[in-house]
Amino acid sequence: MAIYIPEEKLSEIRNTANITDIISERVVLKKAGKDYVGLCPFHSEKTPSFTVSSVKQIFHCFGCGAGGDVFSFLMKHEGIGFSEAVQSLARRYGIDLPERNMSASQKAAVSLRQQMFDLNRQVMAFFTDQLSGRSSGQKAMAYLEKRGFRQEIITQFGLGFAPDGWDNLVRFYKKLNVSHSLAENTGLIVPRKDSGFYDRFRNRVMFPIFDMTNQIIGFGGRVLDDSKPKYLNSPETPIYHKSRSLYGAHTAKNKSRETGNVYIVEGYFDLLALYQHGVTNTVATLGTSLTVEHVNALRRGFAQKAFLVFDSDEAGLKAARRSISLFMNASMDAAVIVLPKGYDPDSFIFEFGREAFEKVSEKAIGMVEFLIESSIKTNGLSMEGKVRVISDLQQPLLEINDNVARSIYIKYLAERLSVNENAIIEKIKSGEKRFNQTTRQNNRLKDNDGQPSLSESEPLIESEMIKVEKQIVSMMLKSPEILPEIKERRVLDYFSDKRLIEIAKIVLEHPIYGDEETPGLMNHLESADLKNMFASLVIEDECRDLNNCEQLLSQFINGIERRQNSLLSQIKSAQESNDEELLFELLRKKQEQSVNR
Ligand code: UTP
Ligand code: MN
Repeated sequence: MAIYIPEEKLSEIRNTANITDIISERVVLKKAGKDYVGLCPFHSEKTPSFTVSSVKQIFHCFGCGAGGDVFSFLMKHEGIGFSEAVQSLARRYGIDLPERNMSASQKAAVSLRQQMFDLNRQVMAFFTDQLSGRSSGQKAMAYLEKRGFRQEIITQFGLGFAPDGWDNLVRFYKKLNVSHSLAENTGLIVPRKDSGFYDRFRNRVMFPIFDMTNQIIGFGGRVLDDSKPKYLNSPETPIYHKSRSLYGAHTAKNKSRETGNVYIVEGYFDLLALYQHGVTNTVATLGTSLTVEHVNALRRGFAQKAFLVFDSDEAGLKAARRSISLFMNASMDAAVIVLPKGYDPDSFIFEFGREAFEKVSEKAIGMVEFLIESSIKTNGLSMEGKVRVISDLQQPLLEINDNVARSIYIKYLAERLSVNENAIIEKIKSGEKRFNQTTRQNNRLKDNDGQPSLSESEPLIESEMIKVEKQIVSMMLKSPEILPEIKERRVLDYFSDKRLIEIAKIVLEHPIYGDEETPGLMNHLESADLKNMFASLVIEDECRDLNNCEQLLSQFINGIERRQNSLLSQIKSAQESNDEELLFELLRKKQEQSVNR
């Protein structure tokens, strides 16, 4: 796939491209001495160990060991090949690459992703032309004006109009000579049952969705009246994943970094309305609830604190309950803003203006406090009410891994309810037992703590374990009927290899029912490493029937349990013989095992 790029061009690009610029478009960097540091985009961390040297034009992470030059950064970050990284930098810095050195097949190999970005850009131009055109676009323009949007916002966000009819975009693609596979990949036209394609978006106001680096990854579209569905979005494509993408990522970045705050709203128009009123550090989720990827991307690339804006207590409560641990785990502060009944951010700011919005923002309260106050509002402060409030908070408090934070919240709750702190701690602990019992791993360790089993069977050695884990994942790929059992028996809790755990989780979420679905699943894998492993699992072709599968699972789980039991009994005898050195070593092993789960 590599295309020939003359050495002098490579060094021209290397000399022109600035690694600090390229990385800071994607990661928040702070100056530290002569280098820059930030939160590593390649592993999850709370304190920055990702270092960029503009002098040496390299990056290195002291946490995970990732490192390289500007090309390797792009390759790793964007998941692209070398020549694609070179081409994208050349384009970014206006350096011409000699086309004539590319053969036809090499040209065809130029990344699908880049072709999709380019096509999306042309599609945006098509939609914006339609919007400003005389004929059908007029009613869309009138709609936007009626909602109060100014021309400069419409232009800045590239809003457009998909005209009524089934083949406007189809014909536009024909004119551009877009290949079938590219056309299908963008997801904007849909194959007909018999043959040909039709337009996905018809008679809708169109919102191009940009990523942090200003590339168009997909589109959303809204009807002009009350018809359903109100909004349509691009389907998942190689460049658009709704669980990762945020509307407004490109416009929110600077102000978010400057202020350290980012607002999270639910809708396209909410974002546009806030933006038009000067609240530019806002992103919107795209018809999905907040995911761990969203939160991590925001924390690494945008700000330390998020304000989630909701149009009702119920919506806020639901989201707060669901996302509290995401923010805690990403070390991101999160506060909740609830707007007065009947208003969403769009209608609120148009009616009351920016200052009023900022006043409400000042009253935002932290997520845990919000859960506590909401529960008090519902249940009251009678004795029964207090009991219910504590029950309500049990789960969220359990999910907070940070002991200090947890004890602060418990103290607050105790004071707020005038209840003894210890009583609350007791209650949380009782939940903790149940919480832990949901993982068989913990359950078993506890059961065995008092009475270690005397079974002394040979512990499986690590590489053997991984071999079996590979067999299991490979089986999950080929025999989806086994997936319910994998879930049921919590098989992944016993896995030791992180990469296999990750792949297996993805398979659980997106089971493969036919070979043609395999490449789609590959898109969910981040690293080259995972892709390699995934490919090797897919390629292994061992045939198993359901019986075989179940046998394999039982063997695997029994083996692990034997191993754990033998470790526990070794720990016990080390304790009895006061062999501190051995004990220390064994406890370390035990900890290692539980860390992997
Ligand atoms: P809402 O239904 O709250 O609408 O959807 P809204 O944003 O206030 O829209 P307007 O003001 O009536 O125009 C919130 C967000 O949920 C997603 C969209 O991203 C929308 O902006 N959504 C909603 C969908 O993806 N599909 C739908 O059918 C509805
Ligand atoms: Mn709205």
